[in-house]
Amino acid sequence: MAESEKSWEKRLSGQIDELAVDFVESLSYDRRLYKYDIVGSIAHAEMLAGQKLITRDELAAIKQGLYEISDEISAGTFQFNKRHEDIHMAVEDALIKKIGDPGRKLHTGRSRNDQVATDMRLWMRDEIELMQARITLLQKALVGLAARHSDDLMPAYTHLQRAQPAVIGAYLVSFVEQLARDFTRLKDCRLRLNICPLGAGAVAGSTLPLDRQKTRELLGFTDIAWNAIDAVGDRDFCAEFIFDCSLIAAHLSRLAEDWILYASSEFGFIRIDDAYCTSSSMMPQKRNPDMLELIRGKTGSVYGALVAMLTILKAQPSTYNRDLQEDKIHVFNAADTVDACLEMAAAIVANTAFNTGHIGAGLDAGFLDATALAEYLVRQGVPFRQAHGVVGTLVAACETQDKRLADLTLEEFKSACDAVEQDIYDSLTPAKVAAAYVTEGAAGPAQTKAAIAYWRDRLKVQ
Ligand code: ARG
Repeated sequence: MAESEKSWEKRLSGQIDELAVDFVESLSYDRRLYKYDIVGSIAHAEMLAGQKLITRDELAAIKQGLYEISDEISAGTFQFNKRHEDIHMAVEDALIKKIGDPGRKLHTGRSRNDQVATDMRLWMRDEIELMQARITLLQKALVGLAARHSDDLMPAYTHLQRAQPAVIGAYLVSFVEQLARDFTRLKDCRLRLNICPLGAGAVAGSTLPLDRQKTRELLGFTDIAWNAIDAVGDRDFCAEFIFDCSLIAAHLSRLAEDWILYASSEFGFIRIDDAYCTSSSMMPQKRNPDMLELIRGKTGSVYGALVAMLTILKAQPSTYNRDLQEDKIHVFNAADTVDACLEMAAAIVANTAFNTGHIGAGLDAGFLDATALAEYLVRQGVPFRQAHGVVGTLVAACETQDKRLADLTLEEFKSACDAVEQDIYDSLTPAKVAAAYVTEGAAGPAQTKAAIAYWRDRLKVQ
């Protein structure tokens, strides 16, 4: 047992168990909120002075003290003490040690409950912008690679079976689209979270004349939280943010999975730069795509954070409970993991080469032009279901003779379907098919070049 250093030592015995000190503290991970805590405190103090709850001199002392504390924390000279439990108590205690009585007035009309909810929202606003910047960098890397392959073909797969020809650039732009949804999802999250809980106090507000609109305005929130009871217990934004992180992780994991396969000898589609591969401690020939495997693997930890966050919220009694302290562990973990994965993915994308020669040489396999052949028959007046059957039969015949559809003679085509003319060969081979795509958003060179131009403009790529 040791002596407590907290403001509530008058209420409690002052005796504490070291085990409990370690168990309850969040300072080890919430200290990263310090700037937001200090900014929130300055806004709160400004408001208190505006309402004459503290004097102008007291405000000046509080601000000066908080600036110094901020400098000390960023310089690494601040002495953290886990007895303070969290960053809020650590800063307040340091302020009181520095400036005495004015420091004791800072917490007027405030509870750590509305304080921590405010800090988290302030932190998340910035974090979302940083994450969005990382998303944009990855999108730019993808668009850059896509631009180098706006004519080169690859097989598009469904069920991991060869389906239709696609331009490599179109495949890459598919991830740019996914990331654009991630970007706007985060934007939505930021819009919804940008409300100010300060003034809700512990749970029911205050009898002091706090000017909630003033702190809202100073901190750049768009609105105040209109129900104090809700405000202190609301962590919807945390769950929503981690969900957004989870979808980003899912998208990156799918990219990683593709590229792990593509980098294998079986596919041989890409070569990832040595800097993003590792070798084996035993097998000297290995070039393992470990960075991609880790991007895929870390998705598990982001999903874990989401489940943890939702579970923390489940069946918690209304308003603030200490359970909510755990939100930070999972929010920070999801954010840090996704940030690292986005950065890594952008570097890998910028340093990966598609083996267009090898991919091109293999395009004859898999009857990538079968669907286009059926569509040719449709243009000749054959109902699609019938055309589908005709081409299915032809594919089965080609398979037994180890031929491409383009190798069949006009007579062979005609005996399968008399609507066939000589121009059938214009609809065969992957290159002709891709060039013939006419639908918006198709995976042909024309659509891909248009998409790349669109994204270059939207992402402001020079
Ligand atoms: N460290 C706490 C948290 O992160 C701050 C709020 C504590 N509030 C309280 N009433 N004990 O949630």
